[in-house]
Amino acid sequence: MQNSAPLLSVEGLSKQFQVRGRILHAVQQVSFEVVAGQTLGLVGESGSGKSTLGRTALRLLEPDQGNILFDGIDLCKLKPKELRSKRKAMQMIFQDPLASLNPRMTVGMAIEDAMIIHGMRSSLERRKRVDALLERVGLPQSIAQAFPFELSGGQQQRVGIARALSVQPKLIVCDEPISALDVSIQVQIIKLLQDIQKEMNLAYIFISHNLGVVQYMSDMVLVLYLGEVVEKATAQQLFAQPSHPYTRVLLDSILKVPESAARRKRMSVPPGEMPSPFAPPTGCPFHPRCSMAVDRCRQEKPHLQNVSPNHEAACHFAVSS
Ligand SMILES: Nc1ncnc2c1ncn2[C@@H]1O[C@H](COP(=O)(O)OP(=O)(O)OP(=O)(O)O)[C@@H](O)[C@H]1O
Ligand code: SF4
Ligand SMILES: [Mg+2]
Repeated sequence: MQNSAPLLSVEGLSKQFQVRGRILHAVQQVSFEVVAGQTLGLVGESGSGKSTLGRTALRLLEPDQGNILFDGIDLCKLKPKELRSKRKAMQMIFQDPLASLNPRMTVGMAIEDAMIIHGMRSSLERRKRVDALLERVGLPQSIAQAFPFELSGGQQQRVGIARALSVQPKLIVCDEPISALDVSIQVQIIKLLQDIQKEMNLAYIFISHNLGVVQYMSDMVLVLYLGEVVEKATAQQLFAQPSHPYTRVLLDSILKVPESAARRKRMSVPPGEMPSPFAPPTGCPFHPRCSMAVDRCRQEKPHLQNVSPNHEAACHFAVSS
């Protein structure tokens, strides 16, 4: 449940790509809010638009439509220089931290670099801050002299987190931050993300295929299908009483077999192929794969509607919780 004013408020956000002369609607008319200190989870199959939404919400990709209000400022109206200075408050953590770190920079240089880009502090202060950040993310200060390829995956992700924290962000988009890591390391990184969220009152947009982790981390969750939100609810409501048929299939594995660690890890995938994003189906985009589809679903597009307070679903037959 969200009681405070949102830190990030996104309304009607759309992003399309031109691919060989054809238009691909990667994100369509998405609206959401994220409150300081809270986590918004994004779930959906591969290609549903999670990463594009995360990047467009930070204006790392230019939106085609929509409004983005961050910390009281309309991001879409900012000129490039103003956007750069605002961007330090909005950071990203990636699935592959090695790819996001410059291989020619030592760990210390990589963390300092983010501070230099944003014009922060004297070099002495920066170095002190590097030491403090390394300690905070659970790494020895000596690692500042190492190159990223010399570290384990878990250590690289800790460096990615330290780099993101170095500029004192208010919001971090975590795009599959644990999926490349061993399970025991995943638990440590999740705990670290939770601890720093509490300490710094950080807002997260948390993207993961691991629905158990999304449930554990999130306050609110958006379910995306072909770039559109099909369900939006508190994590508690979504996982206890999913309303949209697509969400119900996605959650099937963790709801039915909570004791199975192996199945908890992966997302159940609905039968049939995800339709081409170049030619989405008429009516409800999920109708070719939905076991409940009737003629109306093929003709009339369902829009998000309230099924209960803080719970919306885009289905003609959405079940109230
Ligand atoms: N730069 C791009 N140019 C063209 N199409 C793109 C680009 N980036 C993403 N897409 C397309 O946009 C759609 C959404 O992609 P996106 O990467 O956001 O999905 P995702 O939900 O993050 O998937 P995954 O779970 O595999 O990371 C897909 O159809 C993808 O092919
Ligand atoms: S609108 Fe129809 S096709 Fe779409 S999810 Fe609901 S029942 Fe299924
Ligand atoms: Mg992605």
